[in-house]
Amino acid sequence: MTEQRTSLHGHWSSKIAFILAVAGSAVGLGNIWRFPYMAGENGGGAFVLVYLACVVVVGLPIMMSEILIGRRGRRNPVATMRLLGAEETGTTAWRWVGILGVVTGFLILSFYSVIAGWAVAYIFEGGSGIFIGAGPETVNSVFAGLISDPVTTGIWHSVFMAITVFVVALGVEAGLERAVRVLMPALILLLIALMVYGMVVGEFMDGFKFLFKPDFSKLTGEAVLLALGQAFFTLSVGMGAIMAYGAYLPNEESIVRTSIAVVLADTGIAILAALVIFSITFQFGVDETSGPGLVFVSLPLAFGQMTGGVFVAVSFFVLLTFAAWTSAISLMEPAVTYFIEQLKFSRVGAALTVGVIIWGLGFLTVMSFGPWADLMWRGRTFFDWLDFLTNNILLPVGGFAIVVFAGWFMAKNSTADEIDPEAGLIYRLWRTSARYVVPIAIFVVLLNATGLLESIRAYLMP
Ligand code: TRP
Repeated sequence: MTEQRTSLHGHWSSKIAFILAVAGSAVGLGNIWRFPYMAGENGGGAFVLVYLACVVVVGLPIMMSEILIGRRGRRNPVATMRLLGAEETGTTAWRWVGILGVVTGFLILSFYSVIAGWAVAYIFEGGSGIFIGAGPETVNSVFAGLISDPVTTGIWHSVFMAITVFVVALGVEAGLERAVRVLMPALILLLIALMVYGMVVGEFMDGFKFLFKPDFSKLTGEAVLLALGQAFFTLSVGMGAIMAYGAYLPNEESIVRTSIAVVLADTGIAILAALVIFSITFQFGVDETSGPGLVFVSLPLAFGQMTGGVFVAVSFFVLLTFAAWTSAISLMEPAVTYFIEQLKFSRVGAALTVGVIIWGLGFLTVMSFGPWADLMWRGRTFFDWLDFLTNNILLPVGGFAIVVFAGWFMAKNSTADEIDPEAGLIYRLWRTSARYVVPIAIFVVLLNATGLLESIRAYLMP
């Protein structure tokens, strides 16, 4: 066993603190905003099935790899990849994996914060009572009015970035644990209550069938890539966020159990949210392919019909904002620790610098939903491209590099040390996944979606 490093920034106060932090990172807009509309746009059941397979087969092994690399390096992801790369392979070039992750985090948070800003805005829309008894027309026009107005969305984006920078500047360990411990159960309870509501007055069975009855004729190569991208996004893997958190994990804690707990919680919340949303979507005849607006145009309809709906609406969007907030913190963490350790910034200085850059970038997304909404290149807006590039290209490529490093370039001793030494079978499963299953799966999905696989097949079998 090599000497075990201690973290440059202290440790999580307990095992549960680490699980809560990773779960806080994983559970966010990806579960409640993105998963339902992606499932809606891609035909439901078959997409959901592929997504679930990607979470377990690809996402889980990458999450374990990120934690083990992070804990072994005990530094920011760039320095960790450089250090372990040098130790295991004699080259520092692996730092580029860390740098790619930092850049990916900037890009993702730049649009993430804008969407989170919509959630903040909806706390006030919901509180104003505008949804009471409202029909689809009103609800649609409230949403369209919000996103087409770059000043309002720009302000809420700024507010969201400010509260994110604030926590990161204080140091993540401080408030994160307590916030997640209270708010995550609250979010789950509220979603369960809404699901029961959907069972009683909504079209729960229609929603259920839509999500779980696969129609494989709707499954294109592109949809498979989108499902893979969604798996990366929802689990926060592929860019070093989990690696950065792993740097604070005490040596004796189990990577396997932590990862499985987080994956289960994250997937459960996504499915729950989708069941709620589709019960309502089918009840009110909302178009399930309506894209990024789906949560914002379906849930308010139900809130408007229920007694105490104003309270429920405000609670829901407050909890959604918090969930987005704990995710946003993790998107900044790799860059911030990099600025602190490598560029010798203070924590406050690093948080402010990174925050301002991301905040500025965010206005491109603000404009993309507003004045530039009709500005398209190859049928996609700026936001569509940013979303596609990050979730479907950069995260899979980053995850590929991470898992190949852990599976092929790290010595067996090193990885076995980190993953439960007693867990023989699980270790072998992880290693086989890291060496073969995950890299091949990512490679094939990417090739297939670009149409290259088809060309190769046509070339080999004319
Ligand atoms: N997983 C978060 C969500 O579902 C978003 C997120 C946080 C993320 N950190 C990340 C996505 C790192 C990719 C990489 O909302």
